Amino acid sequence: MENILEKEQVISMPRIGDNAPEFKAVTTQGQINFPKDFAGEWVILFSHPADFTPVCTSEFMTFAHLEEKFAKANCKLVGLSIDGLYSHIAWLRTIKEKIEFNGMKNIEVKFPLIEDITMNVAKKYGMIQPGESETQAVRAVFFIDPKGKIRAIIYYPLSLGRNFDEIYRALIAMQTSDEFSVATPADWNPGDDVIISPAGSCGVAEERMTSKDELKCEDWFFCTKPLNKDMVLDKILKKPKLLTK
Ligand code: BEZ
Repeated sequence: MENILEKEQVISMPRIGDNAPEFKAVTTQGQINFPKDFAGEWVILFSHPADFTPVCTSEFMTFAHLEEKFAKANCKLVGLSIDGLYSHIAWLRTIKEKIEFNGMKNIEVKFPLIEDITMNVAKKYGMIQPGESETQAVRAVFFIDPKGKIRAIIYYPLSLGRNFDEIYRALIAMQTSDEFSVATPADWNPGDDVIISPAGSCGVAEERMTSKDELKCEDWFFCTKPLNKDMVLDKILKKPKLLTK
């Protein structure tokens, strides 16, 4: 019985719609109080199995390369692995000094990397999945919104490097849903048509099917409308500050 309880505690996982579990941690950028320090911003909290491993290195370089792009979408990055602070520092220095990947080199990781040798944070976030590894975190990606709510979660196994186009696409799609009260269909990207909320009454269903405006209805329950790409990006992406004399 005790064993089952122990295992259940290890695999307890936050869910979409939950408040992001709180923690304080030491990182390569100093102490953080999560998610409080990030209130008002989106955060991608992601875990990786270990420092000084090749897939993780390729991912860290890619995240660091894209950090500014995420920042323009009001999104901060926070990484985690079950390693100590000095290992993290040594690894990030090695990445900057020695590693070249996909045309990227001299990459400085400026976002915080959490030391989690106690697995305190990894356990709270269900990042330890014992069927995959008892001692290394899987590749988890938690999207946390400006109110501290978990909005999406993606998990990858140890051997599979993440797709960063998809991570960015998901972030922009969720922000678009929030800003314009729409849903986004399969493979949506800014500029593509969006889905409007399902008809909630027979009258609305009829209106939708006979509407002459910009709605395009495949059937009463599946209606899309255009949403201009510039409108989406103008709303979501931070403008560069104009230099004033
Ligand atoms: C890697 O990042 O290369 C890796 C880490 C753990 C297991 C397999 C691959």
